[in-house]
Amino acid sequence: MVERYNTGIEGLDKLIGGGVLKNSVTTVVGCSGSGKTTTGLQFLLNGVENDQAGLYISLEEKPKTVMKQAELMGWDLKKHHKESLFFIYLQGQNYMELIEEQLPRLIEARVKSDKDLRIVFDSLTPLMWYTDEKLAQRELITKVFEPLSEVGTLMATVDGNLNQNRTLSNEIFVPVYLSDNVIFLNYNPERNGPKRTLQILKMRGTDHSEEILPVYMKQNKGVTLK
Ligand SMILES: Nc1ncnc2c1ncn2[C@@H]1O[C@H](COP(=O)(O)OP(=O)(O)OP(=O)(O)O)[C@@H](O)[C@H]1O
Ligand SMILES: [Mg+2]
Repeated sequence: MVERYNTGIEGLDKLIGGGVLKNSVTTVVGCSGSGKTTTGLQFLLNGVENDQAGLYISLEEKPKTVMKQAELMGWDLKKHHKESLFFIYLQGQNYMELIEEQLPRLIEARVKSDKDLRIVFDSLTPLMWYTDEKLAQRELITKVFEPLSEVGTLMATVDGNLNQNRTLSNEIFVPVYLSDNVIFLNYNPERNGPKRTLQILKMRGTDHSEEILPVYMKQNKGVTLK
């Protein structure tokens, strides 16, 4: 039987066949403030609350800041910290070296659990700045996606938007192309009607909703369809 993991986004899983496939790569695309980090946190929380382990890899924010953000949302990550929830803060500019050499060593040293693992990589955006060359971006992103989706089920975030004609903008093309699943979060406070929306752009092996779904950001729930 294929194993699927609930996303932690209330109301979404029944629209995507029960959740994301084990060992798949999901990329969450959205502009700043659209809820990418929150989505990642609720994906991990859903795991640790269901006897799985979680690993949050950040490039921008210190673990303390991430835990504070979760606390403000009403989520106590501290009680899981180091038991079933682990953090890696990747600092530096030589991303190729960080990803190829340091990350595998850090995972080995940090993740002390035999449970099924969910991983959040927040965010891919600084890696995309490394080069404009699509082939080089592909090499770097593959070096993140392949090993991480071997040891766990991955959710990565990337800053970006769709073009006016709803085609992929340049900065998100490579991670979208390399992912099994893509969730697009949109936030437009100026808009009449739903300010926040969620759309599944791709979900391999899954009969999924194609609609632009209104979502909300709520205390204790995070990104939710209800
Ligand atoms: N308790 C809350 N209740 C409702 N909305 C909240 C709450 N806390 C945060 N928000 C909303 O969530 C937004 C931040 O979401 P989040 O950090 O997940 O976005 P992001 O896509 O990761 O942004 P960035 O690209 O800047 O990292 C805030 O700007 C605010 O609109
Ligand atoms: Mg964020």
